[in-house]
Amino acid sequence: MTFPITRLRRLRKTVVTRNMIRETKLAKEDLIMPLFVRPGKNIKNPINSMPGNYQLSVDLLVEKCKELYSKGVQSVLLFGIPEHKDEHGLVACEHDGIVQQATKAIKEAVPNLFVIADICNCEYTTHGHCGTIIDGDVDNDSTLVTLAKQSVSLAEAGVDMVAPSDMMDGRVGAIRDALDENGFQNMPIMAYSAKYASAFYGPFRDAAESAPQFGNRATYQMDPANSNEALREVELDIVEGADIVMVKPALSYLDVIRRVKDNFNVPIAAYNVSGEFSMVKAAAEKGWIDENRITLEILTSIKRAGADIIISYHTQDIIEQL
Ligand code: PBG
Repeated sequence: MTFPITRLRRLRKTVVTRNMIRETKLAKEDLIMPLFVRPGKNIKNPINSMPGNYQLSVDLLVEKCKELYSKGVQSVLLFGIPEHKDEHGLVACEHDGIVQQATKAIKEAVPNLFVIADICNCEYTTHGHCGTIIDGDVDNDSTLVTLAKQSVSLAEAGVDMVAPSDMMDGRVGAIRDALDENGFQNMPIMAYSAKYASAFYGPFRDAAESAPQFGNRATYQMDPANSNEALREVELDIVEGADIVMVKPALSYLDVIRRVKDNFNVPIAAYNVSGEFSMVKAAAEKGWIDENRITLEILTSIKRAGADIIISYHTQDIIEQL
């Protein structure tokens, strides 16, 4: 059927029909808000490159979580900035580690807020790499041991889900085994499966104080040029027991999200990362774009590409509109 019998503008004429035929709808429960926690009391350090985001001490983090929950945010993703760092990131496995403390405090104050812990060593190592260094590079298999330990420790602290972001081979399997051996068979794993070596993480590395002190992450994170390889990463993570797979960053990788959606029957998360967020904020501050409309358009596009879940720093700004 072609024009003049078909006129697609007919259904665009009113708000009612536009809403009726809308294919992609954002909902509150689609969004996860990342938060940064550091030691101390009454601390709220602004992250300059990420306006509206702060490194918070546990007391203020709990207040923030109460506020987010009352606005309708259902889930947060925690990143810790520890008091000290060590060569292997073992400080992340301590019983009273910073994310462990934060988790217990949030679960006490806002028990229904779903708490996800990012599992990685980069915030906890002196060198800022995601694992143990041997011969100048991150050693895969010894890092699996620390990641598994960190996951069990955070499970014991009460997190609702763990999210390994390190990109070591075999980490989902190692974490699944360790969780199961310790009685956490029901703890879900959201794997950062296709995580690219991206310049879009720049602002985050200031926020989490996790920039590598030498080299880069290209020996473990993926080459931005590859998408067949992303499907292999996703497949391996599913086989190893991932409950949710993630593509990260989101916006330059919408094609990857769509390929994962078309090839696998598994829930997909996408991480709308710090650089993507900060570019919007910076342009909005200059008055060059309409921040609110752009944010909704960006998040909708990520969902339209195939993501079920979106991790975004914009969550706190737009949740009340959903
Ligand atoms: C830790 C981690 C990173 C991000 C999430 N987990 C940084 C990195 O890999 O360097 C990035 C998040 C963002 O940019 O918002 N490995």
